[in-house]
Amino acid sequence: MLEQHFSLEDQSSYQQWREQKLACYPLDLTSLMVTLTPHTTDYSVQLQTLKQHCQYYNFALYRFHTPQTITKQHLHNLAQQLGLTHLHANLCAEEDSLSAITQTQHLGQHDYIPYTNKALSWHTDGYYHSSEQTIHGMLLHCMQPAVQGGENRWLDHEIAYILLREANPAYIKALMHPKALTIPANILNGVTIRPASSGAVFRLYSGQLHMRYSARQRHIQWRKDAITQEAVAYLAHLWADDSSPYMMRYTLQAGEGLICNNVLHNRSAFIDSTEPQLCRLLYRGRYLQRVALPA
Ligand SMILES: [Fe+2]
Repeated sequence: MLEQHFSLEDQSSYQQWREQKLACYPLDLTSLMVTLTPHTTDYSVQLQTLKQHCQYYNFALYRFHTPQTITKQHLHNLAQQLGLTHLHANLCAEEDSLSAITQTQHLGQHDYIPYTNKALSWHTDGYYHSSEQTIHGMLLHCMQPAVQGGENRWLDHEIAYILLREANPAYIKALMHPKALTIPANILNGVTIRPASSGAVFRLYSGQLHMRYSARQRHIQWRKDAITQEAVAYLAHLWADDSSPYMMRYTLQAGEGLICNNVLHNRSAFIDSTEPQLCRLLYRGRYLQRVALPA
């Protein structure tokens, strides 16, 4: 059942939702940063604010009051308090299922750009997952920033939906096609680690919009019809536009993090410290749920 404002037939519900959504922009990231002080009486209000930001913008930014004391356990607690309870374990995650995003030489990770200092193109997390393993929520926490670079940019995927629908409603129809995007199988040393996966770019789960996307040119097969190709080109054009008031950019500092409903994001290249203990380190959790709504 389509949520009314995502139905291409219901223009008036869409217009009403669109107006509300765009009225929030441009956003001021500094005022959206929520300082977290766990174990104080203010903490429950702080959590409510994070949930509210995720409800409006599909992301929230936080900063722990005491960054140097933060451990993985604090991040697990925070995620749970926001309704992110079901972690997805990926190929490169540590045993507790939080991935350490840092430059690494480990066998099996050499092909994965997240674990290098290279730029990461626009994507949503888990775009290669099956529908049952869809990533709806994500937490990205910075333990140590790079010496230079490592900036994240992100765009609420609902805004991407609006921009595409404004450009041509047929783009939405094409991107909702169940074969819009195919990711070929991942085969490492002759072993199939992940089978090929085909699916839509935009899907609705319990009335909430989800986007499955990667701007990568390699290991991606777009449906070959003209309108899908045009929609993909439109998105590529969007990524090149530095002036968009809808795109956020921020370099997370130690103790800061981004929580989101798996919005579109990228990362710039970075230069690391020559001291191993001062190298860029982020922890990332991927969840099978969205951030809970505020009470
Ligand atoms: Fe990502």
